[in-house]
Amino acid sequence: RDSMAEEAKKLAGYAAVDNHVQNNHVVGVGSGSTIVFAVDRLAERVRQEKLNIVCVPTSFQARQLILQHGLTLSDLDRHPELDVAIDGADEVDEALTLIKGGGGCLTQEKIVAGCAKHFIVIADFRKDSSVLGQQWRKGVPIEVIPMAYVPVSRTIAKRFGGEVVLRMAVSKAGPVVTDNSNFILDWKFQHAQNWTVVNTAIKMIPGVVETGLFVGMAERVYFGMEDGTV
Ligand code: A5P
Repeated sequence: RDSMAEEAKKLAGYAAVDNHVQNNHVVGVGSGSTIVFAVDRLAERVRQEKLNIVCVPTSFQARQLILQHGLTLSDLDRHPELDVAIDGADEVDEALTLIKGGGGCLTQEKIVAGCAKHFIVIADFRKDSSVLGQQWRKGVPIEVIPMAYVPVSRTIAKRFGGEVVLRMAVSKAGPVVTDNSNFILDWKFQHAQNWTVVNTAIKMIPGVVETGLFVGMAERVYFGMEDGTV
């Protein structure tokens, strides 16, 4: 199933780049493992079709990907309006509400997606979720200012239930530190919620930088399927 998922990521990434990237586009480049395939395809098309493409990264990883592929790197200072942003997701529901931030990059991802005329999501079949948060039980990632992680955790658990945990690093002692030098909380909840309300309410808690809930942002999602279709 894992090798099928890799193939599915590739199918989704290629389809998004082929259908949504045109010459002279400014393209937002997402983070994670699925976007790698999209950047491969983008670089291939830039070479073959001699396209003039400018890329805006959503993370340190995306920046590295852009540079490694010899693509043109820019930023929101120079290109605050993007033609399209392409990114992965951890989960997608029927309303195209997303959970993102499994890789810790949600804040820059949301900023870049918000600057794009079209926000296109690429994912493998495992990300298709009827009720957000039920399948993987990883919860919703929330980026917080380090000094606020305890009060923010308590407020979220008190108001919305569930459990809030500070994400810990794997190959270092201590917490995960984001590209913005913040911490990540993972909020694991019991029930489906009104995501628009919850997203706004969490964002209003002092110390919260951004939530991994992307509500009303994705225009289209490409799912690579197990049978090789998209
Ligand atoms: C990065 O923090 C995330 O928002 C990713 O976009 C998301 O986790 C998807 O990653 P994969 O493509 O690796 O599943």
